[in-house]
Amino acid sequence: MFLTGKQMGEVFLKAKRERFGIIASNVVFDTQVRALVQGYNAVGSDGLLQMSAGAVKYAAGASQDLHTGAKLISTIVKTFSDQFPHSGIGLHIDHATPNYFDFLVYCIENKLVTSVMIDASHEDLPENIRITKEVVDIAHKHGIIVEGEIGRIKGAEDEIVSDTELYTKPEEALEFVLKTNVDLFAASVGTNHGVSKGENLVLRLDLCKDIDDLLIKNNVERGLVLHGASGLTDEQQQTAIANGVVKINKDTHYQMDMAEAIQSYWEKEKYAIVCPPDVDAWDYVPNKSKFDPRKWLIKGENKMQATVEEFCRVVGSANKSILL
Ligand code: G3H
Ligand code: CA
Repeated sequence: MFLTGKQMGEVFLKAKRERFGIIASNVVFDTQVRALVQGYNAVGSDGLLQMSAGAVKYAAGASQDLHTGAKLISTIVKTFSDQFPHSGIGLHIDHATPNYFDFLVYCIENKLVTSVMIDASHEDLPENIRITKEVVDIAHKHGIIVEGEIGRIKGAEDEIVSDTELYTKPEEALEFVLKTNVDLFAASVGTNHGVSKGENLVLRLDLCKDIDDLLIKNNVERGLVLHGASGLTDEQQQTAIANGVVKINKDTHYQMDMAEAIQSYWEKEKYAIVCPPDVDAWDYVPNKSKFDPRKWLIKGENKMQATVEEFCRVVGSANKSILL
């Protein structure tokens, strides 16, 4: 079922109290939405789908119109997830930089989403606080929850690119949360966006604990967010959750799943669409029962579904839906 912003807040509150994580999964089109929502539902988990500005532009086609793309993705997510009464699904805007301020307001006012991320982390701290607070004030009036970030995450995710990482300082995190009143706080602790391997990262998961402890001590406890989580080991994710993380962002892993599953299908079924070298082109008939897009897209869809089910088990959200 598609959740309200308030219900999504309850999901994160329950996750924080019971120390489990919610997998936030990036999507662009309906095949991915189906895979993920069915996966969350299959294991009795709530889940968050998220769309980046780049995904929204892609969804809109050649016009790249943000409003069209967001309405399209939101309609798909809401319509599809409403089939499942025992799994709560939210939709989030991932990494909206300040140049997307008007877009965020449009999505908030039109209730296209349950939550948004304003990412002004490339600004200095006072400016980041000023912009984030402006978004929080608007979003809270409409019952939408907000994620903010300090620090810098290395790697590339759509339009967000950084060659360096900048670890979040706990005292700055406290100042940021106190002054902005964000609901979710994204810390930069050494994860990378894109293809990465847990054992090669300089992870500072201890920083999550320091930030969590400091926020609790100052009566502003929040759920922490871990970006760039595709390359992390199960144990690293579980440590992050024990240290206060409630939202674990995944994108690259699903992209690889889909590409691998479809690549292996076409390796096997190549001659359904390509004339074999020993057959005369005049005699060759492509095999419609194999190249129908449903036949190969479903391979990617099934793989993504199995992956999100496993992710939910790893982070402990299976059978923890607020709707169960
Ligand atoms: O917001 C999405 C995630 O931070 C994406 O990171 O591509 O490493 O999974 P990932
Ligand atoms: Ca991210």
